[in-house]
Amino acid sequence: MKIAVSGKGGVGKTFIAGTLASLLVKAGQKVIAIDADPSPNLAVTLGLSPDESAGIVPIAENEQLIRQKTGTEFSGIFRLTFTVNDIIDNYTVPTPSGVNLIVMGTIRSMGAGCMCAANSVIKALLRHLVVERNELVILDMEAGIEHLGRGTAEHVDILIVVTDATLKSLDIARSICNIAMKSNIARIGLVGNRITDPRQEDVVRLFAERNRLKIFATIPYDQQVAEAGITGVAVDEKSSLAIPAIRILADVLMKTDGA
Ligand SMILES: Nc1ncnc2c1ncn2[C@@H]1O[C@H](COP(=O)(O)OP(=O)(O)OP(=O)(O)O)[C@@H](O)[C@H]1O
Ligand SMILES: [Mg+2]
Repeated sequence: MKIAVSGKGGVGKTFIAGTLASLLVKAGQKVIAIDADPSPNLAVTLGLSPDESAGIVPIAENEQLIRQKTGTEFSGIFRLTFTVNDIIDNYTVPTPSGVNLIVMGTIRSMGAGCMCAANSVIKALLRHLVVERNELVILDMEAGIEHLGRGTAEHVDILIVVTDATLKSLDIARSICNIAMKSNIARIGLVGNRITDPRQEDVVRLFAERNRLKIFATIPYDQQVAEAGITGVAVDEKSSLAIPAIRILADVLMKTDGA
């Protein structure tokens, strides 16, 4: 199963993607998490220290790897066919959560000058992870699914669009869903995050009804999670308000009856 997590900046994508990935490992799944955000920070949510996280070289910035994969003897000309399965073996980072992490780095639109070679490696790698691997793959995305490119996006099984109760994040959630609906993704749904009270929950529910969108789960505001965002200290599962809600989300997603 391939799950992509998107939504407005700062809405909680990384926290949800990382926690979901960790919970699915605990439930016996083999999980690869992909950090496809230009400023990656999924590693900390998966239990690595901020220093360890900072030490990970994103694939797009690994010049030696990019050159080895795409280089030819002619300057400015690069190879378009290369193997990528070995990149998974050599560059995924094991994390204390049991999730294997792969940090992509910035994915630019094609034609963005000298980034082409790095871009083609990332696109091929994403395609391999989403289309050809058997592991459960969770993608923490920058915004929408456009970066995935055709041929990859349509192999995503579930798109989680994270939103809080603000107009702006709901508006972005709507645009992401509208684009995603054209891409054949089987299950698209909202996750309402950082919900502080019933009124905020109602706002998200009403929005979903009006736009005929499904809500996979709502996750309460959790002071511990907010604090973890500041200190980098892991959230204590036992006293967390948000983690049980993400466990419910995991159960909903693992049901394969399309509910
Ligand atoms: N349910 C929650 N309760 C309280 N704080 C939360 C909750 N979910 C996320 N946060 C906090 O909100 C901040 C943003 O979360 P996160 O980094 O996961 O968002 P993001 O969507 O990945 O952001 P970006 O777009 O910058 O990648 C973090 O400090 C995180 O700890
Ligand atoms: Mg993030």
